[in-house]
Order: sequence, then C-alpha cells, then structure tokens
Amino acid sequence: MIYPIVVYGHPILRKVAVEINKEYPGLSQLISDMFDTMYYSEGLGLAAPQIGKSIRLFVIDGKPAAEDEPALAEFKRAFINAHITERSGDLVPMTEGCLSIPNLREEVLRESRVRINYYDENWEYHDEAFEGYKARIIQHEYDHLDGIMFTDKVNPLRKRLIKSKLTAISKGRFEAEYKTILPGQKIK
Ligand code: CO
Repeated sequence: MIYPIVVYGHPILRKVAVEINKEYPGLSQLISDMFDTMYYSEGLGLAAPQIGKSIRLFVIDGKPAAEDEPALAEFKRAFINAHITERSGDLVPMTEGCLSIPNLREEVLRESRVRINYYDENWEYHDEAFEGYKARIIQHEYDHLDGIMFTDKVNPLRKRLIKSKLTAISKGRFEAEYKTILPGQKIK
C-alpha cells in the first residue's frame, strides 16, 4: 500500500521515535510499503514518522540520484534501530528537500562522513561507514527519528525567510502529487 505523507507542522514529526523489536507486527510488509510509498512520491528516503509511525525505521534508495553520484545506483537499504556513532569530515553544503515539506528546497550543512550501526530487513546487524551523498541521505532520514526537520538546520537568515512558506505548507497550501496528512488531521 501507498501511505499518505505527514506534512510539516504535524506533531508526530517532532517526536523522538522508539526502537522496535523483531516481532513488530507486519514489519516486512511495512518496510515494503515504505519503499513503495517512497517510489510513488519520488523521494530518495523515507522515515517511518513521515507515514505516521513513530518508530526508528527508515528506508533509502539512492538510484534516482545515480546520475549525480554513480555509487547511489546500488544504495538501497532499510535501517532499523539505527545509531549514528560518529560524524566526521568537512561540513559540506547541499540543497535538500523533504517529502514532508513539499516544494521547499534549502541548503543544509552536514558532515561528509558517518558511521552507523543498524539492523536490516532480515534483522542482520551492520556497522558501516558512509560518505558523500549516502552520508547526506542517511543523516537527513536519521534526523526524522529524533524529530528534526532539515529546515531546522538552514542558516538563521534563510530560516527567517522561509518561515511564512513553512506556515503556508502546514496549512495545506502546496501542490503535491501524493496524498498527505496535514497537521490536525488524524493518522489512521
Ligand atoms: Co525528510
């Protein structure tokens, strides 16, 4: 199934999500549905809070950005109970967007390298380092689990300039090709 996407301003996006265990009901179906939802809405990543589930799970498929960075063609994963244990390298600026903030793109500084441990969809444990675009997507999705949106990280001047845009988005004044859940709307 394709889930609707929770939009900026909804309180679930600000919650710290909780870890899950292997017995989480319907986990493999949920992961598969999250991939489908991400492909349908044309995102590179999707975190569970964005579909209204406050659990520590996100999925990534970098393939659509493989033109910019060929290594992304094979970068498809589910990350369960992930922990970033190290961030290093230069702070690199890059323009980001988010399915929960339709049509808004802003530059964000992030470290160029991360080390992260997580379980995959087969409940295999991984401890890996990523850099560049992969590290970028991971950090963006991981932030969702801690209630952090990329717009929190834009510079203070830009933050003032986008404030009214964020307010408009949270009131449903945007165009999106996918279904959404606005702040105040109930998550089924
Ligand atoms: Co996002």
